Amino acid sequence: MFDFLKKKKQVKTFAPLVSDMHCHLLPGVDDGSSNIKETIECLTTLAKLGYSKVYFTPHFQAHYPNEEEDIKQRFTKLKKAIEAEQKDDLPEIAGISGEYRFDDDFERNPDEGRVLTLPGKKLLCELSLHRSDYNPIDTWKKYIAKGYTLILAHPERYPYLNIHSPLVEEARGMGMKFQVNVLSLNGFYGESARHKGLDYIKKGMSEYLGTDTHNMRYANALKETANNSEVKEILKKYTFQNCEL
Ligand SMILES: [Fe+2]
Repeated sequence: MFDFLKKKKQVKTFAPLVSDMHCHLLPGVDDGSSNIKETIECLTTLAKLGYSKVYFTPHFQAHYPNEEEDIKQRFTKLKKAIEAEQKDDLPEIAGISGEYRFDDDFERNPDEGRVLTLPGKKLLCELSLHRSDYNPIDTWKKYIAKGYTLILAHPERYPYLNIHSPLVEEARGMGMKFQVNVLSLNGFYGESARHKGLDYIKKGMSEYLGTDTHNMRYANALKETANNSEVKEILKKYTFQNCEL
């Protein structure tokens, strides 16, 4: 009886961020959403949790050798299809960018200017989660020299890195910004990532937060994360640069 009264009200925990700048909701191009229905379902959840803008960031790496022109066309088509649905409970689909993993098997020459950036020539990049034998410094330097601002995705998720690692210090020294995944803060990727994520934020080393939403499993985990009291406190206490995107 009165079960509806017990149902937890969904809080708009992430509203101060305004924008999600990391998700894999362009259907069928990587390990993210597989169709438009799933994309809309995930976007609806993001809106309910407070996000008013979303940037799509499909993978660009050896395993997902996407081409920018194709991705842009797919994005335009998807955006039109979603707009045609005339749903008023969705965030603004703000733009298409990418999550780039440059290593021995996948490179993009910054001179070609083809990479898909977030506003302000900001480029989301990642490292391999498993191999630590590739040194990304030269590639990072090339991009920075061409005026890109590099944002390292989820630094807390690389098992071989922590806040005191030489590579982390070097990245910060070069002016790179970091983006912790909000799901890390609720233990989605394990305790180590949770601790490291909190550490980066509390030391002022995470300018951005991203959802890295791939599908409804992630979106449902986000709902749980939105009710985590420590996460709510972080959103109140710290300022992130998502809202400038
Ligand atoms: Fe990602």
